[in-house]
Amino acid sequence: MPDEPIYFTAPLYYVNAEPHLGSTYTTLVADTLVRFWRQRGRDAFFVTGADEHGDKIAQAAADAGVPPQAFVDRMSGLFRSTWHELGLDAGWFVRTTDASHVAFVQKVLRDIHARGDIYFDSYRGLYCYGCERFYQERELVDGLCPDHRTPPAEIAEENYFFRMEKYQERVLALYEAEPERILPDGFRREVLALLREPIGDLCISRPKSRLEWGIDLPFDDRFVTYVWFDALLGYVSAVAAAGRPELWPHVRHLIGKDILKTHAIYWPTMLMAAELPLFRAIRVHGYWTRDGGKMSKSLGNVVEPLDMQARYGRDVFRYFLLREMAFGQDADFSETALVTRLNAELANGLGNLASRVLAMQQRYFEGALQPLAPEASDLALREAFVGARRDFDAHVAELAFHRGLEAVWRALDHANKYVTDTAPFRLAKDPAQRPRVGAILHELCEALRVTAQLVAPVLPETARRLFAQLGLPEQELAALDRAWGTAFAPGHRTEPPEALFPRVESLAS
Ligand code: MSP
Repeated sequence: MPDEPIYFTAPLYYVNAEPHLGSTYTTLVADTLVRFWRQRGRDAFFVTGADEHGDKIAQAAADAGVPPQAFVDRMSGLFRSTWHELGLDAGWFVRTTDASHVAFVQKVLRDIHARGDIYFDSYRGLYCYGCERFYQERELVDGLCPDHRTPPAEIAEENYFFRMEKYQERVLALYEAEPERILPDGFRREVLALLREPIGDLCISRPKSRLEWGIDLPFDDRFVTYVWFDALLGYVSAVAAAGRPELWPHVRHLIGKDILKTHAIYWPTMLMAAELPLFRAIRVHGYWTRDGGKMSKSLGNVVEPLDMQARYGRDVFRYFLLREMAFGQDADFSETALVTRLNAELANGLGNLASRVLAMQQRYFEGALQPLAPEASDLALREAFVGARRDFDAHVAELAFHRGLEAVWRALDHANKYVTDTAPFRLAKDPAQRPRVGAILHELCEALRVTAQLVAPVLPETARRLFAQLGLPEQELAALDRAWGTAFAPGHRTEPPEALFPRVESLAS
């Protein structure tokens, strides 16, 4: 049976503010996973998009002095172009103002309403505009929204409600029986705790007298639907719009921890009511902090993704984000740490190895590969890279990018030590050792070839450049299973080295 396709989602970001490090990270994770699985022969796809309705957006448009539609057109365009400039091109970018999305949301609302799972009632509750959701008293911290640290607004009005509580037991049973649905497990336990208390029904509408900027309820046009009921359905409408509706049952959601409740509780109940297949998994990451503290515009310490790319290069920025954060935990973004990793791991560990090997290939053999003649140290080198492949694959499949990269860099450390131990630059002084020098360099070219293949999902440009310097065609980057010693045909020539990474002066003062 052919492998199943694999479909990842990054959130549909609110377009009231510009793309930032948090949204960049989730989008990068989706992009990396798609590259990783495609390289391994899987049909992989990812979606992200723009969440364009609701109070927050209407307010931001008013502040900018433009009509909401013009505002979201501009901001969505900014998100798309930022992802494109960062090399993070989704298979589909869904906007919640897309006509096909609006039609889908209305269809689902109509179906659920017809089945009796939506009712009209009056309501009084505590609402956080930052989160665009109601809070229960016990969820507040000192009376404030735990995320925004602002007092929620007390709202009393008539609205439509979705019978969320009706599905509570089913969702609880699902997460109890299938722990891999929400990972890391700490987040699943948080969700289980919420599900063991009454969750209440979900207010899914806003009267137009209060908010116009939303999707009309198909059964009562005095109301628009509530943002989460709208945006979450974008994960489904996106694959239909992309002409890939069959991907839906293979979906895995990538989210930050602040939107866990909406994804792990609201969403499965909505899917059950809509009689749609459930997601396969929700994978939750932590927050990026800045120099140990909160990142915020008012503190002036926001990381601008395009600036970072301009300053250090795309691959360096990608590498740092994926190497520094353990998916699921918080991590700190510090430029000092980025430069330290750039110098030690990228420029030294990988760049320097490549330039030494390729320079010796030129100097001693004018680039021509020599025959292999494996000795014990060569076999140990091969073993190190076989181990790296195994560990990288296992860790990245589990989203432990930091561990996967660590495994590759362990093999690179081994290769650097192999150069020192076998000392081809010393042997080269003895003409009788010429075949051994050639064999050592061939082993090292294989090590570089495997490295390029492994890091390709994380460092796509570096992998391409390294392959070009090795004289290998780009399509070979996908040939992960090629046996050691078969990548270079007799007479193959490598190119002279070119620095893969800029060295940057240490920022530590
Ligand atoms: N529009 C909703 C999502 C709807 S999905 C159907 C939304 N949008 S958002 O623009 O606020 O984006 C939130 C995403 O960015 C979340 O995954 C959140 O965790 C992530 N991040 C925002 N700040 C972050 C950090 N400082 N660090 C890491 N990620 C954080 O919520």
